[in-house]
Amino acid sequence: MHICYKLKHLLALAHLASALTVTIPAVVPSGAPVISPSLLSLSLEQDRWPDWSGATSRNDFFFNTLDNLNQITGQPPHIRIGANSEDHTDFNPNVQFAQAIFPAASATVPYPEATNITVGNSYYLTARFLPPGTHVTWGVNFGQNNITAAFLEARSISDAFNSPALKSAGIVLDFIEIGNEPDLYRNNGLRSSSYNSTQYTQEWIRFAENVSVAAGISATSHTKFIGASFAGSSHGAGFSPQAIFSAGILDSAPGKLMSTISQHRYSGSFCSGSEGLLQDLMTKATIRGNLSTFSPDIAATRQRGLDYVLGETNSYACHGAPGVSNSAGAALWTLDYVLFAPQIGISRVFFHEGVGFKYNLIQPATLTRSTLDGSSLPAPLPPHVQPQYYAAIVAAEAIGSTGSSQAVELSVDDPTVSGYAFFEGGKLVRALFINLKAFLASSATRGVVHVSLGFAETSTRASNITIKRLAIEHADDTSGLTWGGQTYETSNGRKSGTLMTSTGSIQSGFDIHDTEAVLVTFH
Ligand SMILES: *[C@@H]1O[C@H](CO)[C@@H](O)[C@H](O)[C@H]1NC(C)=O
Ligand SMILES: *[C@@H]1O[C@H](CO)[C@@H](O)[C@H](O)[C@H]1NC(C)=O
Ligand SMILES: *[C@@H]1O[C@H](CO)[C@@H](O)[C@H](O)[C@H]1NC(C)=O
Ligand SMILES: *[C@@H]1O[C@H](CO)[C@@H](O)[C@H](O)[C@H]1NC(C)=O
Ligand SMILES: *[C@@H]1O[C@H](CO)[C@@H](O)[C@H](O)[C@H]1NC(C)=O
Ligand SMILES: *[C@@H]1O[C@H](CO)[C@@H](O)[C@H](O)[C@H]1NC(C)=O
Repeated sequence: MHICYKLKHLLALAHLASALTVTIPAVVPSGAPVISPSLLSLSLEQDRWPDWSGATSRNDFFFNTLDNLNQITGQPPHIRIGANSEDHTDFNPNVQFAQAIFPAASATVPYPEATNITVGNSYYLTARFLPPGTHVTWGVNFGQNNITAAFLEARSISDAFNSPALKSAGIVLDFIEIGNEPDLYRNNGLRSSSYNSTQYTQEWIRFAENVSVAAGISATSHTKFIGASFAGSSHGAGFSPQAIFSAGILDSAPGKLMSTISQHRYSGSFCSGSEGLLQDLMTKATIRGNLSTFSPDIAATRQRGLDYVLGETNSYACHGAPGVSNSAGAALWTLDYVLFAPQIGISRVFFHEGVGFKYNLIQPATLTRSTLDGSSLPAPLPPHVQPQYYAAIVAAEAIGSTGSSQAVELSVDDPTVSGYAFFEGGKLVRALFINLKAFLASSATRGVVHVSLGFAETSTRASNITIKRLAIEHADDTSGLTWGGQTYETSNGRKSGTLMTSTGSIQSGFDIHDTEAVLVTFH
């Protein structure tokens, strides 16, 4: 019986096993980008911001999920707060925290953004509940074309970040963003249908002149403006960084206070998921395609001496496609997507989150409706992490804690496997491999690739490796992942379980299964 089983297993492997040799540089190639410890950062829909931070006391669950990352890299993720509801926010000093009006939930959008939100000073002050040392970007209302709203919000944001509580915690305001996705205003009624980048630039300058005074943004302040925050790019006359540069935005007085350009990206918009869609998301070529679309914008931005980030992104619009964005496969998509970004000049990637959105890394609050179809849940669902959160943890461990590691993408001759090598002090320390082939609950057999490691240089290299696996039962699972045998699916967001890794020699290489990520540490 036993032999028979083994034979069958071997036969199956013979069909599904393949072999790859990947050449890794033992010393860092010139031009390898430095990877920020907070490469994977978060963008939060601001209508329910106090649900994330906590209103009168800290939301320990959210704090713990951010602090886990801080403990690994030495830096918590950067947090951008704003997005769609940023352009629907009024300020009233008499409001405590926030008052929001939400449209009715639907099956496709179980947790819609507020149409109207009014905030007061205490709303911004809850940023004191973020981990010490957190860097924040906050958006002000530009959509309503009401400079008073932008002015009052900017002043209150500035007051909050100058308060003793935030100052002593080292929680700093990196940027104010004026308006979310203004390139869509001509489609969503916030401006006329002929609104163009010239008009936008003139309006932005007028608002930014006011906001810079209200928020104390100057040549010597830490806080600067983050520019564009466009939903897309048309690489020319439309709303692109190039278009606003040629309209003179950087030549204006407040434009000189803009140090970073942000653009947004979703890989598509699908409001009902399918298994086919999951493999589409988990595709090495389209991950590269979706990011490389910004290459001309990145080049134009860097040529002006500005930094470039993806200020809001995630898998599919509609807050994610059910069965796709909330699945384990999306964790592998996130990992490959976030690590590829700096290879083309993107410094930081802010994954968008809203309470109850399907594509969240973190659900910070108790939910009573299904995120997938809006139906009432049989029992309230406490705060929890979703599969994508593991991508943040794995990326953090790959990047490490030096604050100055560098990474290059490895040339992997397989359309479903990607790889990255990480260097500290110029020396190879780790490599991460991601097998994007979707192994679904309905799939028959699981493929495996044997990876042999080759070195360009023969001298001075490690001889042994430690292997740590992101184990996923099926790409379409929505829970049950483990990282080195440990889970983050706990009531407090802290890891639990015993760490499991394996060691071997470099010569023997390692196996990577369909729907798996493997971190290799060299020593
Ligand atoms: C709030 O809603 C009212 C009516 O629905 C609308 O006229 C107003 O512009 C909204 N304000 C904001 C800030 O969205
Ligand atoms: C402009 O913004 C202020 C502050 O948010 C608000 O009180 C006022 O109602 C707004 N005006 C209009 C016309 O929406
Ligand atoms: C900014 O706008 C507000 C509201 O209209 C106004 O009270 C304030 O004086 C303006 N500040 C500057 C510097 O223009
Ligand atoms: C935008 O519209 C204005 C006024 O209609 C026009 O003068 C300007 O050239 C347009 N800008 C672009 C980039 O098309
Ligand atoms: C972006 O990814 C989706 C799949 O998630 C794919 O259908 C689309 O073609 C990609 N876009 C580009 C420009 O590569
Ligand atoms: C590699 O592993 C072998 C066998 O366990 C051990 O003898 C050797 O010392 C290790 N080498 C290094 C550099 O850790």
